[in-house]
Amino acid sequence: MVSYKDLGLVNSRELFAKAVKGGYAIPAFNFNNMEQMQAIISACVETKSPVILQVSSGARKYANQTLLRYMAQGAVAYAAELGCNIPIVLHLDHGDSFELCRNCIEYGFSSVMIDGSHLPYEENVALTRRVVEYAHQYDVTVEGELGVLAGVEDDVKAEHHTYTQPEEVEDFVKRTGVDSLAISIGTSHGAFKFKPGQKPEIRLDILTEIEKRIPGFPIVLHGSSSVPQDIVAQINAYGGKLKDSIGIPEDQLRKAARSAVCKINIDSDGRLAMTAAIRKVFVEKPEEFDPRKYLGPARDQLKELYKHKIVHVLGSDNKV
Ligand code: G3H
Ligand code: 13P
Ligand code: ZN
Repeated sequence: MVSYKDLGLVNSRELFAKAVKGGYAIPAFNFNNMEQMQAIISACVETKSPVILQVSSGARKYANQTLLRYMAQGAVAYAAELGCNIPIVLHLDHGDSFELCRNCIEYGFSSVMIDGSHLPYEENVALTRRVVEYAHQYDVTVEGELGVLAGVEDDVKAEHHTYTQPEEVEDFVKRTGVDSLAISIGTSHGAFKFKPGQKPEIRLDILTEIEKRIPGFPIVLHGSSSVPQDIVAQINAYGGKLKDSIGIPEDQLRKAARSAVCKINIDSDGRLAMTAAIRKVFVEKPEEFDPRKYLGPARDQLKELYKHKIVHVLGSDNKV
């Protein structure tokens, strides 16, 4: 058993309390490799923002959980070396079983998500409660989810959103003891969140209803990439073939971040930024074959994207 506290990591409790009070959201960025981790940490150090480093099941398979844990541990020292001891949470994204959550907690994660959103309500409550009981023994925070996002989530594909029902949230939060709640209000995973012609809009009215039932309780938004059109254009200008990629407008996320939404998950935008930069190098300098010559620019473009998110969307800059 490794305690995250010995690794210099923090859980999300205090960060969320401050974020809800201060009207901003903590960035939750996914990472799978060293360049993504460096971009996240340097962007957060330069903007003085706390951060949640997210590891999905896919990331564990791709990069190996041990390496990711050591990278997160290294991120603490890396941030200090860059000049600011930012609070860093190591979070399991979309945990799908008690065993996986327990394994991550034993491995040094400071926060886990148990995603029982596809289960019948009572089963979701029971599973989430079980994870919370285990996690809280080690002061690890837990995120639960109510409502199903459209799109692909944990290999489960949902055609339509099942919006979170505001009348369920109070009971769920009380009976499970979760520290934060992910909700479904029209965001979705990936780079194709709306169909062409559809109005890109999330249901802030449902968010308001939810907040009335559980005032001040930390709310999480998944699927919150905005799919910047200049980045999509860069990808396509250098040989990519992305069509009808549409994300969540940044002003809507900014509004959400001012409310009890205190964690906003962004992954796809980072994937797009890296891809755009790499494509540019490959087209402009076809003679290059040193990975540092294309992963370096990808890391730079990623860092700029994250800094933009922190300052203009989440509002978490200067909160350390
Ligand atoms: O919620 C999904 C995240 O973007 C992680 O995606 O499972 O492909 O790593 P992944
Ligand atoms: P995006 O696909 O919109 O970046 O969402 C990521 C996410 O929710 C990770 O859990
Ligand atoms: Zn998600």
